[in-house]
Amino acid sequence: ASKRRPAGTKFDFMVVSNRLPVDRCTSEGTEDDDGGWRRSPGGLVTALAPLMTKADGAWVGWHGAPDETVRPFSHEGMDLVPVQLSSDDVELYYEGFSNATLWPLYHDVIAPPEFHRAWWDSYRKVNRKFADAVSRHAADGATIWVQDYQLQLVPRLLREARPDLRIGFFNHIPFPPPEIFAQLPWRKEIIDGLLGADLLGFQRPSDAGNFMRSARRFLGASVKQQQVHVKGPDGAITHIARAQAFPISIAVEQISDLAKNPAIIERSRQIREDLGNPKTVLLGVDRLDYTKGIRHRLKAYEELLDEGLIKVEDATLIQVASPSRERVEQYRLLREEIEGTVGHINGTYDTIQNTAVRYLHHSYPVEEMVALYLAADVMLVTALRDGMNLVAKEYVTARTQDTGALILSEFTGAADQLKQALLINPHDIDGMKNAIMRAVNLPVREARRRMKGMRKQILTHDVDHWSADFLGALNEKVVRDDS
Ligand code: F6P
Repeated sequence: ASKRRPAGTKFDFMVVSNRLPVDRCTSEGTEDDDGGWRRSPGGLVTALAPLMTKADGAWVGWHGAPDETVRPFSHEGMDLVPVQLSSDDVELYYEGFSNATLWPLYHDVIAPPEFHRAWWDSYRKVNRKFADAVSRHAADGATIWVQDYQLQLVPRLLREARPDLRIGFFNHIPFPPPEIFAQLPWRKEIIDGLLGADLLGFQRPSDAGNFMRSARRFLGASVKQQQVHVKGPDGAITHIARAQAFPISIAVEQISDLAKNPAIIERSRQIREDLGNPKTVLLGVDRLDYTKGIRHRLKAYEELLDEGLIKVEDATLIQVASPSRERVEQYRLLREEIEGTVGHINGTYDTIQNTAVRYLHHSYPVEEMVALYLAADVMLVTALRDGMNLVAKEYVTARTQDTGALILSEFTGAADQLKQALLINPHDIDGMKNAIMRAVNLPVREARRRMKGMRKQILTHDVDHWSADFLGALNEKVVRDDS
């Protein structure tokens, strides 16, 4: 349904993120192709699409095709306002500063962040582009919700251009401790950019705490409880920004409905049959990213095969690794390494009939994902650092019969909420191997007790709660806290 709004339409509510929920497809005629557009990857889109389908507002973001100008349009009930990025913007702002500077810096420097002044200049320029697009389309007094690390300067730019707006910001990824954030040559500018918001949302209380400590340390802001008091040159308070945790979630109803759909249940049976009906199916689902701990997972699995604790006749590990940021060097290196490792494991342990690791470098529609969740006895989420990890929440939601086991890294935001998972430290390979064996042999009653507890948590905290909580808090009147 592609209705076109009259040119010059102003919106009372706008979400702004680096990516729109749809990406321009380059390969035409693929299965998930929908009129030249397909769903873009990652947790941010998974979380925000349900809100934007229902809300009367617009989504501002990049449409995924460099150098192409696209006019505002509507897709699956969402009003979309595309921001044009040049090939240079993509290289310097997106691949460079966002994904080779900020991404590794905010994820515990798992890969070394690179600091380049030309990348920073482009980041500033592109953030201005996004802020300008919002300013042009926002009605008087509109509520604007800025998303994620790619757009940290937008709140300040918007406040300067449009003091009438109410501005929220949500960080989908971790916020690093000040000791690590300190490395960033432009740390002051980033904190100042964020402090243009009325409300800053983070995944975990520790992320909000890290941000507030950085605001104090690098900008000299005074922090009172959940408030950051920004002062002018004369020492008077010019603005109060609040910082709080709002753990993100998923569209629970959509996933549970799919999990009860007979066609999808049949598909999950088919998947197991196609694998030769092994006793145990293990599953990993990740963007192909070095933060996800895929190497650590494969190492643990290989050792279990080597020690004969897992036999290729009895078990298969399905690893879905969806393509991501393929032009960034660290991602290219990772792909080579993972594919080399998978080749090595399969070459060593496969038989004509059985395969140790079924590796799939694809992204799949949600229906197929749910079928995979239903087919898997053990779900492996082994991230070295992850803002939340919605895959863990999707798996639990899909297990409507309270069966199956979730192995979950304690370094994910999800571990704060899914306390009945088998929690692991992915750097501890022996610990991970023990957890895998425990999951494979988990007594039915214990599995049920754990899954029930986790399902209860998610069913009462779905993504609608998340957005309603955030937007409710954004619209509260702020009373200055001097305690
Ligand atoms: O959830 C974190 C995030 O970086 C989002 O901001 C982003 O949309 C998603 O992962 C996928 O990454 P990318 O847009 O770089 O493909």
